[in-house]
Amino acid sequence: MRRVILDDAADLAQWREAARGLLLAAVPPAEVLWEGGAQGDLLGGMTSPTIDADVLATSGPAGAGAFPARAAVSRAPRVPREFLALATLVIAHADPQRHARLYRLLWRLVHGERELLAMATDPDVAWAHDAAKAVSREKHKMKAFVRFREVADARGAVYIAWFEPEHDVLPQVAPFFVRRFAGMRWSILTPARSAHWDREALHLGEGAHRGDAPDGDALEDLWRVYYANIFNPARLKVDAMVKEMPRRYWKNMPETSLIPALVRDAGARMQQLVDAAPTVPRKAFPAPDLPSRALPAGGLDGVHQAVSACRACALWRPATQAVPGEGPADARVMVIGEQPGDQEDLAGRPFVGPAGQLFARALHEVGIDRGTLYVTNTVKHFKYAPRGKHRLHVRADAGEQAACRPWLEAELAQLRPRFVLCLGAMAAQALLGAGFAVLRERGRWHPLADGTAVLATVHPSYLLRLPAAEQPAARDAFLADLRMLRNALSR
Ligand code: URA
Repeated sequence: MRRVILDDAADLAQWREAARGLLLAAVPPAEVLWEGGAQGDLLGGMTSPTIDADVLATSGPAGAGAFPARAAVSRAPRVPREFLALATLVIAHADPQRHARLYRLLWRLVHGERELLAMATDPDVAWAHDAAKAVSREKHKMKAFVRFREVADARGAVYIAWFEPEHDVLPQVAPFFVRRFAGMRWSILTPARSAHWDREALHLGEGAHRGDAPDGDALEDLWRVYYANIFNPARLKVDAMVKEMPRRYWKNMPETSLIPALVRDAGARMQQLVDAAPTVPRKAFPAPDLPSRALPAGGLDGVHQAVSACRACALWRPATQAVPGEGPADARVMVIGEQPGDQEDLAGRPFVGPAGQLFARALHEVGIDRGTLYVTNTVKHFKYAPRGKHRLHVRADAGEQAACRPWLEAELAQLRPRFVLCLGAMAAQALLGAGFAVLRERGRWHPLADGTAVLATVHPSYLLRLPAAEQPAARDAFLADLRMLRNALSR
């Protein structure tokens, strides 16, 4: 009997190395005892499993020839790619037999059963598919349901989350949180291991106890308010909700304390909405209670830093980071969009997503160098509603636009552009008044009191949303507006 001890039971690279050695020595599955060691003690850095070609080389579907049973494998055995994709997930499964099961599958694959993975009813194959599905589901749930609590240490705010995954998925999911919360210091604690991001490097460490994570903080109230606001009683389907957000995750999520009351009151709230609909007045937004904001010191850079620290409305909380304006400090043109989208939120830069790319192409077409423009947004944080894996864009409301307005004014005051191009109604109305109708009043210069000339046109995302038949004309009109800007610049 061979005994294999893995230092880290969820490290695919270790398992592959061991499995390759066993295959080369022709050790059949029944003669191997697999033991997974303690997790997290050898992990100095990020250890997402990688496919390492010289440990177990992969091959395409029309694979190499079969190996006779019990023959020693004399070179790196070739296995279908699908096996490695399955193993990458299965290695994180909680089943203590997973290493043995994977080795049995591997043994069979390289000993004459090359098409094994296509046999869905085979017990080993069925188990592997079910296990991979369970791990994949757990990864998805972790991305959706981790909730950070803010604490402070000597270096400032740190965000700590406690999560109890059914499978050991933290090493596979941590890189997602690095991308999503790159600008924050955070730790995710689970019973099996922990992940710590210090804005530069990810460290995986030992498991933790629930008591190691803070129990709640004032910011959780914001989550509750946010959740209560996006909760739509007309769309309530309790079964679907519990399926999507199983009850075992609820205890670590601040907003779930609201669910019983929201569900209980959904009928009454629906009725209220129905009753109120005909008489609802146009939504009036009280002026937000804003801290007074003097023009920050340090020119545009000072404004950008102040924008990044802004907490004047609740949008900063679920966003990855603020998206300040970008461009030369002596730009003659300031372009104002609406609000950052998903990709801008991740990149921290305006107009880098699909709308931004369309805009860049249009500028190029009319001969304006995008690099000469200062590009910013009316609202500096991404507003979204989480829907499964996606973050759906939600238009910033009048209160959020008003909360962000001092930053737009600060940018205008610092840059003092000769021309302003407003993309879409939100930007145009911020400068030209709430009654400004873009489709009616586009393509004309509008002077501001200080002499700045403002041109408004449609937002590039409007062009992306139009039915195909209407796009050519709308694009021509958009390009015509941009040519007006180019002509003004060349005069
Ligand atoms: N749309 C905008 O208005 N601004 C961006 O930065 C991206 C998309």
